[in-house]
Amino acid sequence: MKTQVCIIGAGPAGLLLGHLLRAEGVDCVVIERQTPDYILGRIRAGVLESITVSLMERLGLDARLKSEGLPHGGFNLADGERLIRIDIADLTGKQVVVYGQTELTRDLMDAAEERGLEVVYGAADTALHDVEGDAPFVTYMKDGALHRVDARFIVGCDGFHGPSRRAIPASVGKEYLREYPFGWLGILADVPPCNHELIYANHERGFALASMRSDTRSRYYVDVPLTDRVDEWSDDRLWDELAVRLGPEAAAHMVRGPSIEKSIAPLRSFVFAPMRHGSLLLAGDAAHIVPPTGAKGLNLAASDVYYAADALTAFFRRADNDAIPGYSDRALARVWKAERFSWSLTRLMHRFPEDGPFERAMQVAELDYIASSRAMQTAIAENYVGLPV
Ligand code: FAD
Ligand code: DHB
Repeated sequence: MKTQVCIIGAGPAGLLLGHLLRAEGVDCVVIERQTPDYILGRIRAGVLESITVSLMERLGLDARLKSEGLPHGGFNLADGERLIRIDIADLTGKQVVVYGQTELTRDLMDAAEERGLEVVYGAADTALHDVEGDAPFVTYMKDGALHRVDARFIVGCDGFHGPSRRAIPASVGKEYLREYPFGWLGILADVPPCNHELIYANHERGFALASMRSDTRSRYYVDVPLTDRVDEWSDDRLWDELAVRLGPEAAAHMVRGPSIEKSIAPLRSFVFAPMRHGSLLLAGDAAHIVPPTGAKGLNLAASDVYYAADALTAFFRRADNDAIPGYSDRALARVWKAERFSWSLTRLMHRFPEDGPFERAMQVAELDYIASSRAMQTAIAENYVGLPV
């Protein structure tokens, strides 16, 4: 098969990019290892920034997002008895939308056929070839046969563990990595949320987050040691822990119910730079990971894709050769700011095992400062709602 852009990975980054390119008349194909059901079974992010919402609007794929998404004009930081509300609507004039990654991905998948976006699911042994030259190609196995896609560009949207980043020689890239000594244990349950807005809580027993997917579906997280296994956390144990960490007010409104999903995700900060090598561009988790505290992972994938679509469209539609070389610097400028925000909110809201009284005093001082300063609240709000692209 021959195409202009071969996209590897049909997560939110790959599908969004595919749709944006098709909307501009650029030929592309998406190669995905898993099945659609497997992808839709992964429960991940839940908060969309305006960039992500506006890309869905631009594609005309925002009907369900508009009707089912929950606009949120604020969120809360809790520390012991204290609840600090960050009024993002008042501080920035913008809102975030609570809408699950699963639903966004489903909207993109459902529209693929009618928009002429070809997605190959169930591709095994995907490999990238000749990425340094002008005629790269991708090979994969499907139905017992070897397939080859020749393209002008390859975009690696294949997540942290995919093959694309590894196709860039170690000598031309640099990895920045910070691993955290805990993971997030998440539970999804068909019960009403305990609060109409999100609560991020720093409790002496650890972090907790109260989130939601709808008025009848809740998503909660606690941080746990990396050695914990999901089967050590019965639903009852997890609800008890959430009630303690979120505090009496939230606990009084918390409705318990059986988990429909429960999993542990490790926390890490990671950046690979540059995000382009020859004819290969990286986007989303393939190039960077943030700890989930700032709700930035999915939204960063969307902003990368915005820049990548812009550069590829300039190349194919306007014969502009200058946009592709600028892709990595444009994307990384925003990536690093989201990395900083996610890292600093993680630092502020978690009890690190190595922390002593001094580090805790710094958290309390920072929370005091946030509670009393509109400037501090504005800085948090504008990062949370998403910095401009
Ligand atoms: P992905 O969604 O990872 O998609 C990559 C795609 O590439 C996948 O479909 C994968 O199957 C495919 N692929 C991989 N290897 C190959 C191959 N060899 N060949 C072909 N295809 C391949 N963010 C938040 O903001 N909040 C959260 O609560 C949150 N929770 C998370 C929980 C987990 C367990 C993980 C892993 C991430 C979480 N994130 C969260 C981050 C957020 O979900 C990601 O940032 C987002 O999914 C990035 O989208 P992506 O398309 O770049 O990558
Ligand atoms: C959710 C996940 C996050 O990482 C976050 O910061 C806020 C909400 C969620 O899954 O709902």
